[in-house]
Amino acid sequence: MEVIDGIGLLLTLHGHRPYDGHRRESVTELQHALQCAQLAEWSQVGHALVAAALLHDIGHFAAAAIGDDVDDEHERRAAELLNGLFPAAVIEPVRLHVQAKRYLVATDASYLAGLSSASVHSLALQGGAMSAEECRRFEAMPHNEDALVLRRWDDSAKVRGRQTPPLAYYLPLLREIQSDGESARPRTVIGSLDA
Ligand SMILES: [Fe+2]
Repeated sequence: MEVIDGIGLLLTLHGHRPYDGHRRESVTELQHALQCAQLAEWSQVGHALVAAALLHDIGHFAAAAIGDDVDDEHERRAAELLNGLFPAAVIEPVRLHVQAKRYLVATDASYLAGLSSASVHSLALQGGAMSAEECRRFEAMPHNEDALVLRRWDDSAKVRGRQTPPLAYYLPLLREIQSDGESARPRTVIGSLDA
């Protein structure tokens, strides 16, 4: 199976789950991913950031479901899953999108009030607001600004009934930016289908 087809299958097989599990946001995981990618496209950013928006929560599917009161570390799982398949411009915003939430809570007084209850719940599990030192370290990280932009789309991509292009619309974009190294580890994504 070609690796982008594997990613598409992963999103399709698991995408019916309600976003944020038991807390039940108003959209499914796949609807959330597609809305996030659509917001990226509407912002006219590069294809790498559109791909990051589409794939940012794929780590939710990379392991067996765990409890609602445990940090699933899905951003780390996603980065591991995508490593070698896509360039850093895709992987790093995905890896940093949870840290971006912690940064925004620490630096934007209005940000916390706009978060969904599920995001507030997970914030506590993920470490809460960043300290001043953590903020400084985050600001020095490559791709941190893309992670902040992605985070804003993430928070807005939960609108029940919003129409988006289908997943198939984005697969050619993923193929276009796929790393040359993908052939070295095409089984990684496909193996995750068992998770
Ligand atoms: Fe998300």
